[in-house]
Amino acid sequence: MSVDIVVGTQWGDEGKGKIIDILAKNYDYIVRFNGGNNAGHTIKVGDKKFGLHLIPSAVFYPEKFKVIGNGVVIHPETLLEEIKKVEEAGYSTEKLRISERAHIILDWHIMLDGIEAQKKIGTTKRGIGPVYADKATRVTAIRIFDLYDNLKNKVDFISKIKKQVIGSYGQPINFDIDDLYNKLNQFAEKIKPYVVDTQILLNEAIDKKKNILLEGAQGTMLDVDHGTYPYVTSSNIVSGAACIGTGIPPNKINKIIGIAKAYTTRVGEGPFPTELNDENGKKLREQGKEFGTTTNRPRRCGWLDLVVLRYACRINGITELVLTKIDVLDYFEEIIVCTEYKINGKKTTEMPINSEKAEPIYKTFKGWGKADWAKGIPKEAKEYMKFIEKETRIKISILSYGPKRDETLFLK
Ligand code: IMP
Repeated sequence: MSVDIVVGTQWGDEGKGKIIDILAKNYDYIVRFNGGNNAGHTIKVGDKKFGLHLIPSAVFYPEKFKVIGNGVVIHPETLLEEIKKVEEAGYSTEKLRISERAHIILDWHIMLDGIEAQKKIGTTKRGIGPVYADKATRVTAIRIFDLYDNLKNKVDFISKIKKQVIGSYGQPINFDIDDLYNKLNQFAEKIKPYVVDTQILLNEAIDKKKNILLEGAQGTMLDVDHGTYPYVTSSNIVSGAACIGTGIPPNKINKIIGIAKAYTTRVGEGPFPTELNDENGKKLREQGKEFGTTTNRPRRCGWLDLVVLRYACRINGITELVLTKIDVLDYFEEIIVCTEYKINGKKTTEMPINSEKAEPIYKTFKGWGKADWAKGIPKEAKEYMKFIEKETRIKISILSYGPKRDETLFLK
């Protein structure tokens, strides 16, 4: 029996979807614990390709429970579309479960995200910040449970407040209360078979010695407490959040698997010390197809940052690393990695609270050229990997060299 966590160690988009899809075969429950449809991953099996934002990455395993935990925020239309898409592709959603404690993203959250945060932070405009803010205020939030408990009164009360807030920004109010209420009622009806107290489901599964995989969204540097605040998302991302977002206690956790891309990307605004605004950056974006799954924005690209990775390994308690997209580095004569920062003339190996002024100190490795990864790891790539292991003091257990399931090497 094992309860394991998968987290991103950088700024998201580390290729978690593919890895979770592969690992899922060993688990009975795959659980999302944070974020909402700001996340997105593409999973490829044979000719089939799936872009998902909310339903856990195990759609290709109908027999497994796919659980949306209490820490997730749910956009009704997105969830309904995903259920439809999965069913139309011939996969059952019978084993989907949704926490009655999860919060719901409503039209006003999306409007407010556009008004308040989008410009400064470069959010995905999915209403994530405003919905988590409402969760914290406790007064203006609607949870899945509320869909079945006095919904009309709640919608009426909250919508009056939201109209005032949106009006105070001088913005038009593009929602109709009756429409919204009807939409939510239909949503409630459709998802009713899936709604449970997921904490009970999961802890009972632990008692029955089932295997559970807790699937994190985004990456450590986007964590609202530990990331590059304020250029972060509005939820906790680190492994600790997996317990909060599911109701599974910390003493039940076994492995904490960190996913790291062999280089670095980030979308949206915020500091990114190893960013490359040159031909190499362009090459990483093109070879790595670095365009957002959710917003299609070109991702900012740069070299691997070991200050970030060591920090992520520490605060997540990573027990093993998965290195992804190593094949993208086939196209570089030299592979460069940041080992330390220089800030105001002083060297540091620690992640500072503000990395805006951090100048990366680099170490250069010899490239390996076009590799036949299925046949083995080139000597130079082994050196690169060994250095990462030495610096993080964590073993790389899986190497991913393409989007397909079989483009993967298991190293132990
Ligand atoms: P929000 O989560 O939409 O509020 O966006 C806040 C920041 O997190 C922005 O810089 C987004 O681009 C980034 N972000 C949110 N979700 C993801 C993700 O799944 N991958 C990468 N970046 C993300």
